[in-house]
Amino acid sequence: MRIVFFSSKPYEQTFFDEANEKFGFELVYFTHPLSRHTALKSLSADAVCVFVNDTLDYDVLSALQRQDIRLVVLRCAGFNNVDLPAAEKLGVRVVRVPAYSPYAVAEHTVGLMLSLNRKIHRAHNRVREGNFSLEGLLGFDMHGRTAGVIGTGRIGSVVVRILSGMGCRVLACDPQKNNECVQLGARYVSLPELYAQSDIISLHCPLDCDTHYLINAAALAQMKDGVMLINTSRGAVIDAAILVPGLKSGKIGYLGLDVYEQEGDLFFEDLSNEIIQDDVFERLVTFPNVLITGHQGYFTEDALRNIAQTSLANVHALEQGQVCENELTATVLRGTCR
Ligand code: NAI
Repeated sequence: MRIVFFSSKPYEQTFFDEANEKFGFELVYFTHPLSRHTALKSLSADAVCVFVNDTLDYDVLSALQRQDIRLVVLRCAGFNNVDLPAAEKLGVRVVRVPAYSPYAVAEHTVGLMLSLNRKIHRAHNRVREGNFSLEGLLGFDMHGRTAGVIGTGRIGSVVVRILSGMGCRVLACDPQKNNECVQLGARYVSLPELYAQSDIISLHCPLDCDTHYLINAAALAQMKDGVMLINTSRGAVIDAAILVPGLKSGKIGYLGLDVYEQEGDLFFEDLSNEIIQDDVFERLVTFPNVLITGHQGYFTEDALRNIAQTSLANVHALEQGQVCENELTATVLRGTCR
């Protein structure tokens, strides 16, 4: 079994090589992304292993199918970058890693909240320059504040647990109630109620047809003035066009992003010698109350080890003709996505 990796980085190769000692697959690491262009090259592969910003639309999947590549191995949880109905039609199977460490993303999420609230990133820069003034660094107690969590699945429920532990009043919104969150004291409410009451809003739903631009101008208008908005889910859950005006007016008091709709052109690469063309992104990083990380929520050694082990175990299961519980079919698409 020859598996060709796209968008591969040295830091993950170590974990895949280690996990592969058990399986003995042939692993080939390409650093470039999978796209319409690269999928046309002869890959001589049995499977491709891809990450969050690789494209798996109809054209790419057809190009893979023409090379008799019938397996796409997602080394991530989200699958919004895959045209699942097309894959099914073309007979290309898709597996993913649904849960590798919800703690990694949840802890990073709360890290963004705390950094923004207590301005730790700004304080660090000041102290390095010998500026010990506290002017502008005033924060608030998280204890007693209302936090709204949208999506209480694997990651959102850990966020609920951490925030409950800090003494926040937690409101939740999810079409599927999570009993663990209820037991922790979270109250399930409608989106308008969550928007109206929350001091902090954190997004943990998948990106699909129902959640695309969930946070748009109409949603923002229902939120408290000075709301803290945190997104570690997928970029397009927020309409990026509302962010700069929202920050300029003070409606958004704090913005923490680990994901960004156009991140495919930016994240995971060193662009420090380039002129970044995305004007919205460039404006966002100039605000003192904005903190952006480049899709690193998942980035812990525990998560990378789990990703590698589960990805290869998924391939092994299918190779052995076993049922793989991490296989995706188009039936996972809800509502209007179908
Ligand atoms: P999950 O599938 O366990 O939970 C998602 C929850 O969202 C489910 O309970 C579902 O019912 C709920 N949901 C679906 N539609 C909703 C809606 N319209 N409103 C409210 N809730 C809704 O997923 P998991 O593993 O917790 O991942 C959550 C998000 O985090 C996904 O978007 C995923 O892509 C993203 N993610 C981000 C990472 C990062 O490094 N920043 C790493 C891993 C995942």
